[in-house]
Amino acid sequence: MISRDPQAGVTGIAARLSPEAFRAEQEALGQCWTFLGFEWQVSQPNDWFRTMLGGRSIIVQRFEKGISAFENKCAHRGFPLRHEDRGSGPLICGFHHWRYNAEGLALGIPECPAQFRVTPREVDARLKRVEIAAAGPMLFGRLAGGPDVSFEEWMGPGLPILKHLAGQVAPSKAIYERVVKANWRYMMDISLDDYHIVAVHPSTFGKDGYLNPDNVHYARFGAHSAYLPGGAPGALDAMAEACARGDYTPHRYRIFQFFPTLIFAIVKIADALGDTYWALTVQRLVPEAHDRTRSISTFFPLAPKPEGGGHKAIQRRLTWPGMLAGFKYYGAKVHNEDNEACEKLQASARLDDPTPYLAKHEERIGWFDDSYRRILAGEEVRA
Ligand code: FES
Ligand SMILES: [Fe+2]
Repeated sequence: MISRDPQAGVTGIAARLSPEAFRAEQEALGQCWTFLGFEWQVSQPNDWFRTMLGGRSIIVQRFEKGISAFENKCAHRGFPLRHEDRGSGPLICGFHHWRYNAEGLALGIPECPAQFRVTPREVDARLKRVEIAAAGPMLFGRLAGGPDVSFEEWMGPGLPILKHLAGQVAPSKAIYERVVKANWRYMMDISLDDYHIVAVHPSTFGKDGYLNPDNVHYARFGAHSAYLPGGAPGALDAMAEACARGDYTPHRYRIFQFFPTLIFAIVKIADALGDTYWALTVQRLVPEAHDRTRSISTFFPLAPKPEGGGHKAIQRRLTWPGMLAGFKYYGAKVHNEDNEACEKLQASARLDDPTPYLAKHEERIGWFDDSYRRILAGEEVRA
């Protein structure tokens, strides 16, 4: 039995069509803990990178005291502090040389007593701070002012899973980055859709036909969800517990969609020389405009470990680069097929687009829609 309200339309359709609605949506979503990047992007003091959160440009920088993040806007007159995607150096504004510390306080103000008749401490000008949290090497941030939901409450069982799996990988150069002319929701939805694989990925994911519904288990936790093939109710918690104990080893395909924009998957690459090669893929969607999304996927060797000594380890080390290159090629092909479909959806989107009929293998799109509506309404969502 299909329950469907034909008047309801497509969730968040206005934000897919208009810059104003998109801005309001992003403002609200920026208050959710959002994946921003990896700790190794700021491995040394003064290293920084720029990204977007809640529709705003933000900067993440390592100071002697640790990592801080701020809106990329000088407290003096609003000049953007950083103009590139990454770099290294103290946080000094290029307009009048105000200099900021790890708290975002302007402690270096040129000619301060002469110009302002007080000390910098008395001026007390501060950057707008972005709260930061980490799951292993993965950095998350949120804008202030949202619901009082801690990072742990927001992530639930997802936190030990991210910590354990991302915690065992090293920086990887296997990165696939594209700007897609489609709203981020189309891209998130297609990743939550296991029904399109035959039509859109006939030579890869869909080459063996439709998924067997008996083999598909979806788990919902807070605003997030996962696909655990072969799993049963309780499979997610069992995996989280194994990860928390540190003894989870990859044995099945797994994909997790963390609200709003993180896609985290464990994928089998191939069997070779008595080993099964598993990759971790971390995909981040960066909503840049109502009709434009940056998609950044990083592919990591997960198992068997590429390091260590001995004959077997050397063999694995020699095998991994080819495995990863092949996997990146495959990943790029699948992404491109998805991106093309999303661009077509975007190009034809209208305010009165019909309410979707969601199949069993699209169930998670309905869950995502529900979380989206609740979060935009200011509800506190916990996992
Ligand atoms: S605007 Fe940044 S120092 Fe003036
Ligand atoms: Fe797809």
